[in-house]
Amino acid sequence: MDSSSSKFKMVAKTFRGLENVLYKELKQLGATDLELGNRMVEFTGDKEFMYRANFHLRTALRILKPIAEFKVKDDTQLYNKIQSIDWSTYFDLENTFSIDSVIFSDHFSHSNFVTQRVKDAIADQFREKFQKRPYVDIEDPDIKIGIHISHDLCTVSLDSSGDSLHKRGYRQITNKAPLNEVLAAGMILLSGWDKKSTFIDPMCGSGTLIIEAALMANNIPPGIYRKKFGFETWKDFDNELLENIYEEDNVEPNPEVKVIGSDISEIAIRIAQENISNAGLKRKIEIKVDPIENFTPPNTENGIVVTNPPYGERIKINEINAFYKSLGDNFKTKYKGFEIWLLSNNNDAIKRVGLHPSSRVTLFNGALECKFLNYSIYEGSKKTKNKNTE
Ligand SMILES: C[S@@+](CC[C@H](N)C(=O)[O-])C[C@H]1O[C@@H](n2cnc3c(N)ncnc32)[C@H](O)[C@@H]1O
Repeated sequence: MDSSSSKFKMVAKTFRGLENVLYKELKQLGATDLELGNRMVEFTGDKEFMYRANFHLRTALRILKPIAEFKVKDDTQLYNKIQSIDWSTYFDLENTFSIDSVIFSDHFSHSNFVTQRVKDAIADQFREKFQKRPYVDIEDPDIKIGIHISHDLCTVSLDSSGDSLHKRGYRQITNKAPLNEVLAAGMILLSGWDKKSTFIDPMCGSGTLIIEAALMANNIPPGIYRKKFGFETWKDFDNELLENIYEEDNVEPNPEVKVIGSDISEIAIRIAQENISNAGLKRKIEIKVDPIENFTPPNTENGIVVTNPPYGERIKINEINAFYKSLGDNFKTKYKGFEIWLLSNNNDAIKRVGLHPSSRVTLFNGALECKFLNYSIYEGSKKTKNKNTE
């Protein structure tokens, strides 16, 4: 494997719609040779940077390190190419491994079949050399291998993150439909929040958006809570390098900024409190049980609301439409000077908000295609600056 100073290509994966914010994060962190892709950004860095990327990036799901790239048209070629990689450079007999295959190819139709062939090729190579083979562990492998086949191009990568990076480590219990942490961080970065003005989520559920906002505002790296990254069980793991990254005191307490959450559900607020406490953010976030209809934002010049209201799967159509209308009325009357950002997949209900969005981005909340909409509520007017058309 590489010495810690030599550079290599890496791939940071993310959700559709967050590629640009991830690109910016990588650039700020010092990545070079950046290239935007679909749900990913390619970049170059050394081993230290790979650790740093895992520790600091808020909008990356995982960081892959490609170790081989070749053309394949059938499973025999695949088996032979995988066997030509010296796997004992990467892991030992006593390590466990797993394989994750993603296929966009006419030559291979089933990812399970590809996974099986790759597993056989690796196991056979160990057996030939050591008369034994390492075990597969799907839950918690020491080495996670990624196979990506696009047409006839196969890329073999090691997954340096292990568990997806959205699993920050502060969430122990979940409520209904929590936002993915990477998506929440991406929404905040897309909103362009200045990390100074008041940040509110008045339908905060388990608190994902307010926690991610408080982490950003205080410059707390999202990796600080993680128990483990994938690269920690690699053969070339350098503990000192990782400890140096942990010990760099990047945290910049920002006592001025207000981060506020509320929700109608007592259970949701209890879960949010638990998560906030796990993240050590009790003094950085104000939170209470309150329906949005009663909630009054603090009287500030400007502030921002980033929120993920119910989409209405469990409510009657006229009720959800009326709810979105009341949200719009609420914003117009109580949130003067605020930027409002809503994530919803309910296009009909969105129209009832009665405000003209100044921008809209398509994002995916799991499988749901959503709109992430921005409304600017101007001081001295009950409407947005733009015409109130919808
Ligand atoms: C889609 S969930 C938000 C999930 C949240 N972003 C998270 O990560 O856990 C919508 C939330 O809106 C809350 N809610 C519904 N009606 C409300 C109301 N009238 N006032 C305040 N909160 C409300 C629900 O209790 C629920 O927690």
